[in-house]
Amino acid sequence: LQDKFDTLRSRYSEAMKGGGPARVDKQHQGGKLTARERVAAFLDEGSFEEVDALALNPTPGEAKMPGDGVVTGFGRVDGRPVALFAQDFTVVGGSLSLTHARKICKIMDMAMKVGCPVIGFNDSGGARIQEGVNSLAGYAEIFLRNTMASGVIPQISLIMGPCAGGAVYSPAITDFITMVRNTSYMFVTGPEVIKAVTHEDVSKEELGGASAHGYKSGVAHFLVPSDLAALAHTRELLSFLPSNNLQETPRRAPLIEMPLENPALDSIIPEDPSKPYDVRQIIKGVVDDEHFFEVMDAYAGNIVVGFGRLEGRSVGIVANQPAHLAGVLDIASSEKGARFVRFCDAFNIPLIIIEDVPGFLPGVNQEHGGLIKNGAKLLYAFCEATVPKLTIITRKAYGGAYIVMASKHIRADFNFAYPTAEIAVMGADGAANVLYAKDIAKAEDPVAKRAEIVADYNERFANPYVAAGLGYVDEVIMPRETRKKLLRALNLLEGKRESMPPKKHGNIPL
Ligand code: COA
Repeated sequence: LQDKFDTLRSRYSEAMKGGGPARVDKQHQGGKLTARERVAAFLDEGSFEEVDALALNPTPGEAKMPGDGVVTGFGRVDGRPVALFAQDFTVVGGSLSLTHARKICKIMDMAMKVGCPVIGFNDSGGARIQEGVNSLAGYAEIFLRNTMASGVIPQISLIMGPCAGGAVYSPAITDFITMVRNTSYMFVTGPEVIKAVTHEDVSKEELGGASAHGYKSGVAHFLVPSDLAALAHTRELLSFLPSNNLQETPRRAPLIEMPLENPALDSIIPEDPSKPYDVRQIIKGVVDDEHFFEVMDAYAGNIVVGFGRLEGRSVGIVANQPAHLAGVLDIASSEKGARFVRFCDAFNIPLIIIEDVPGFLPGVNQEHGGLIKNGAKLLYAFCEATVPKLTIITRKAYGGAYIVMASKHIRADFNFAYPTAEIAVMGADGAANVLYAKDIAKAEDPVAKRAEIVADYNERFANPYVAAGLGYVDEVIMPRETRKKLLRALNLLEGKRESMPPKKHGNIPL
């Protein structure tokens, strides 16, 4: 019997070595942790239960590597269960064989059964070349599960090394992508192929490094400086999310007691309505502990999205940012906002919308780039969302953008406006050009005439009272009252029930 126990121990101890000390050293020299180090640093201490540590690739003639390039199992984050896989670059470059893929599929299937998030640490040379179509079959099995799990359990991808070719499409379907600066990259075709096909010269980092995807493509949601930072950041991200679409969001008591009213909010909107301000000041003045967990902060800065808490409960915040492009909606910001809104709606996270939007961005590039269908994504996302939706109009709410940003007309539950709100079809200058161009031209003093028309227009339309008079704004409030009003509305809406008509699925403009 002792022999049998010894065999078991020695098999496990072999499996724990991964690709051996030389490859582990190489991983460390590259500034990366190994798969097992990542798992240990990520999970609550001692909570990891590994499965399939002894899985072997059955392909004849292939070297037998225990685990086959991926560590999979279950553990806990802040006491709540998660499923996770960590590709082990020290074993056949973390490349994906059918066995490797099936290990990942196994933990995904269990995660769906029990309703817990799946976290993937990606660090892989891609499809196991020796396996041919079997490794492609493996990817396909994962992609299908990613799609089935979308909107049921949160899926989070950490890119901690190479992720190229077909491999990118699993992270792409998941809810959030975090990239580690300098050590990770993602692309569909690499620099050599690009050079051969389009004659463009580009490095891996320029093509698909963290900055490329954080700032330019919008593929990555978070950029972090190191493996350890990625792990800590993901633990925090999970703290805002429910474990599945049938759960409520977890609550976390605030560290500091915040008064219901915050007088500092009264002085954030500038006296001059054309001056910018940073909408994060309003967000931080409202959420627990002034703590805002921003998503995609490097991309499309004209919209700010992220998570916060109100008396412990997670909320998703979508805010126009007057400090960037005056807060206009364009292609990039509409897409960014829409995806975030749909995530929150799928996972029962109430939405707070802070609105100061002069309209959609004019331009040939925008129109030809599909501003119509991309802007429609945000509109569609807000229309279909059935979670509590609370809108605060701080200043500009013009034209179609007013409607899009969770107006009363598209089922927002409470619409508040500050006394500084301007709710109209367009700004005074634009209106003067359309309605009074002839009067201005004919006037003895056109400049004075224009000023008079603008002043009259502003008095009549650029305020919250017309909309409040029509019931499109529920209440005009002092900025200092924002937190109180939001909290009371959220409490009332705790039992909100609203649903979409039965259908297979909608057809959001893509
Ligand atoms: N299939 C099989 N083995 C692979 C592999 C793959 N797709 N990718 C890497 N490996 C193996 C390497 O042969 C090497 O094995 P060894 O340790 O026994 O020598 C090990 O993984 C590490 O790879 P290496 O090339 O030494 O690492 P690197 O850090 O210098 O380069 C990559 C990393 C990903 C750039 C490089 O391995 C690569 O180009 N891989 C192929 C990518 C690809 O075309 N994938 C298929 C299409 S999706």
